[in-house]
Amino acid sequence: MAAGLAIEMRDITKIFPGVIANDKARLEVARGEIHALLGENGAGKSTLMSILFGLYEPDEGRIFIRGEEVRIRSPNDATALKIGMVHQHFKLVHNFTVTENIVLGLEPKNKWGSLDLSGADKRVAELSAAYNLAVDPKVRIENITVGMQQRVEILKILYRDADILIFDEPTAVLTPQEIDELLAIFQRLKAEGKTIVFITHKLKEIKAAADRCTVLRRGKYIATLEVAAASEQELAEKMVGRAVTFRIEKKPAAPKEAVLRVENLTVIGAKGVPAVRNLSLEVRAGEVVGVAGVDGNGQSELAAAISGLLPVKSGRILLKGRDISRESIRNRNESGLGLVPEDRHKHGLVLDFRVDENLILKNFRTRRFSNAWGFLQFPAIAGHAADLIAQFDIRAGNGPGTPAKSMSGGNQQKIIIAREIDVSPDLLVVSQPTRGLDVGAIEYIHRRIVEERDKGRAVLLISFELEEILSLCDRIAAVSKGSVVGLVDAQDADERRIGALMGGIADG
Ligand SMILES: Nc1ncnc2c1ncn2[C@@H]1O[C@H](COP(=O)(O)OP(=O)(O)OP(=O)(O)O)[C@@H](O)[C@H]1O
Ligand SMILES: [Mg+2]
Repeated sequence: MAAGLAIEMRDITKIFPGVIANDKARLEVARGEIHALLGENGAGKSTLMSILFGLYEPDEGRIFIRGEEVRIRSPNDATALKIGMVHQHFKLVHNFTVTENIVLGLEPKNKWGSLDLSGADKRVAELSAAYNLAVDPKVRIENITVGMQQRVEILKILYRDADILIFDEPTAVLTPQEIDELLAIFQRLKAEGKTIVFITHKLKEIKAAADRCTVLRRGKYIATLEVAAASEQELAEKMVGRAVTFRIEKKPAAPKEAVLRVENLTVIGAKGVPAVRNLSLEVRAGEVVGVAGVDGNGQSELAAAISGLLPVKSGRILLKGRDISRESIRNRNESGLGLVPEDRHKHGLVLDFRVDENLILKNFRTRRFSNAWGFLQFPAIAGHAADLIAQFDIRAGNGPGTPAKSMSGGNQQKIIIAREIDVSPDLLVVSQPTRGLDVGAIEYIHRRIVEERDKGRAVLLISFELEEILSLCDRIAAVSKGSVVGLVDAQDADERRIGALMGGIADG
């Protein structure tokens, strides 16, 4: 057993009812290394890391930590072994402060037995300085950005002395700037001798940050590669088992009449002040219009107002010429609006429902799925589910009856996209559609969005990924502080020009 290994997982098998999530999977991570874990949606990455953190016990296999064989039965065992994990969906208490969250469960007491946060504040300040993890210890979680919440999660595991740090898709919810900061933090942790394992679908990040990369496919170990010697193309091929094209083939757009018109829209955001300010925008049939901007510049509220999740303060939203600003969500859907929401758990799925049920959430009342007496037509529902599962390659372990909550993150996202595209709405609003998807799935979803456009649908795409915006859109609206600050044709745009517009630098 090599002494230089921080983690060795040998032949790990984990079976859920009907699904082999890990099938003799292997992982070897050297001490002080940054190791990426790559694989398609549903390949078993989160499961393998959950086993390492003691959330699941493997059915078979052995684990060695720093050369010693261990059994990790719970996260407490993992913490005792100095293993910490930052989950994709953060587990912070929103009305607690930063420090309160960090010390939760290990609250320091003074000699009279009451809570003493002054010592904790000092320790948190030290850790935050040592690793350059800027946080504001006294602020409540609900008032800080996602990037800062993640730093709190990292401080939380450092406070518990972790020296093996696991991150499950840490960059999925971050803006490009925050991603750069996180990758810099990884380097600092490494310089301090920490070992890092991180899951990501973004090959660029692997190239930028990882020393080595282990690839899983359908639960099995495929390879471990030296990142410096592997191209993005090679990584992608190892992962999906075939060549992947990174370019989207598309004809020039042939836009027709306006389908969506947003006129002087103002929407009040969560903080009680306008998040969308006097914004105007048009999307025509047969075009994809992108909204590009740094997170927090009104994009989420714009999508929420169009879909009916947030009220309109002033201005109008017209769908095919009709004012829908005050319509119910259901009426909007029935008038031809499709929506892929930013928050898939809150607004996209009913997690306790099955896949087939989630796939008809929007149209189970139609004659396609219900008869004249309102009874659901199960053969039609089953056929529809089988069709979409095949088209979108949704990996539901137990087929259409699988509960959405037991599916991998990327496969949950595919359910929503399949449902919304399938009805081919006149207007498709998609927010961060490929978040958490593997490169093969992204390729497919992008192609389907372009197909919708070519069928004459209007598509509004909101994305923090400039690359996605540039490759899919025909026109791009840069937003800043809730307003459109520049509107350009995609053929005249590049990352720098859009970036400059987003930063509020006038176009010229
Ligand atoms: N608690 C569970 N119950 C039943 N099946 C599960 C459970 N957790 C995961 N699975 C199944 O195990 C397989 C692997 O899932 P896992 O979440 O590890 O994939 P992943 O590689 O992390 O995918 P993604 O990139 O989409 O997050 C999937 O088929 C998933 O549906
Ligand atoms: Mg996962």
